[in-house]
Amino acid sequence: MKHKILVARATFPDVVARLEQHFDVESNQGDQVFSPAELAERLQGKDGLFATLSERISAEVIAAAPALKAVCNMAVGYDNIDLAAASRAGIKVTNTPDVLNETTADFAWALLMATARRITEAEHWLRAGQWKKWRYDVLLGADLHGATLGILGMGRIGQAIARRSSGFGMKVIYHNRSRLPEELESGANHAGYVSKEDLLRTADHVVLTLPYSPQLHHTIGAAEIALMKPSATLVNIARGGIVDDAALIAALREHRIASAGLDVFENEPALNPDFLTLSNVVLTPHIASASEPTRRAMANCAADNLIAALGGRQPPNLLNPEANRKE
Ligand code: DGY
Repeated sequence: MKHKILVARATFPDVVARLEQHFDVESNQGDQVFSPAELAERLQGKDGLFATLSERISAEVIAAAPALKAVCNMAVGYDNIDLAAASRAGIKVTNTPDVLNETTADFAWALLMATARRITEAEHWLRAGQWKKWRYDVLLGADLHGATLGILGMGRIGQAIARRSSGFGMKVIYHNRSRLPEELESGANHAGYVSKEDLLRTADHVVLTLPYSPQLHHTIGAAEIALMKPSATLVNIARGGIVDDAALIAALREHRIASAGLDVFENEPALNPDFLTLSNVVLTPHIASASEPTRRAMANCAADNLIAALGGRQPPNLLNPEANRKE
């Protein structure tokens, strides 16, 4: 008999068709966002879950789904899943690393450039009919070439961002939980390791790429923003909660830093409405990995993990090898 799985949100129809070759699939192509209670209800009798970052797989949801053996997230981040509870319940958890590195790094640059050079602000100004004449000081921004780029979180995405900076002749500094090996620092990444405080004090443009965990909640708050240059740009493509949004709003409003480019927010998609009142912030709806080929690769990666996990094989991107085997 085929294993039963739930595909929690709409995804590429060909990926659902692929999953149907292996499993008895309940798929949510109507794209309803399930409450935790609805999710627990839908998981009754399911062996596997194809999840996205929108589903909170809490200890309660896990306890309510005794048949569950695998949760395969279509995201590299997995802060939506209580990994410890899943491991205790013998549930294998996987993510989708690597397939999104380059696309996400491209987007970090797009957001950085839009923010530093005030592109969305300029377009709003133009569309509002304010462009009456050329002026020497209209919408002056910050340079990227020759500037110092600070990357907080130097994993695979951070390194892909660093590699792209050489065309701009930038100096790259980074801070990370652990320092990169010498060959990675001096090679294509050409990045120097500094403390978080030195990074914030020195960088002209700060890009956040660190994964979220409760220990990293509000890594960038009022005290950290106070260290940054008044001319600095802050870009967050990591996760909501890494930045204290209220503190950032206050700093942007008082021009204590120049600007911010944000793809992720606390409590997204319900972002703090005060962001909408500011012209020195570029806002995008968590789309850093959203190129067609990359989202498709992520969906197929999650499907590969599910097929392996329920097929009795080691999933390629297993996050919790400590999960006791559950057949
Ligand atoms: C991830 O993969 O974690 C991204 O944030 C979702 O695109």
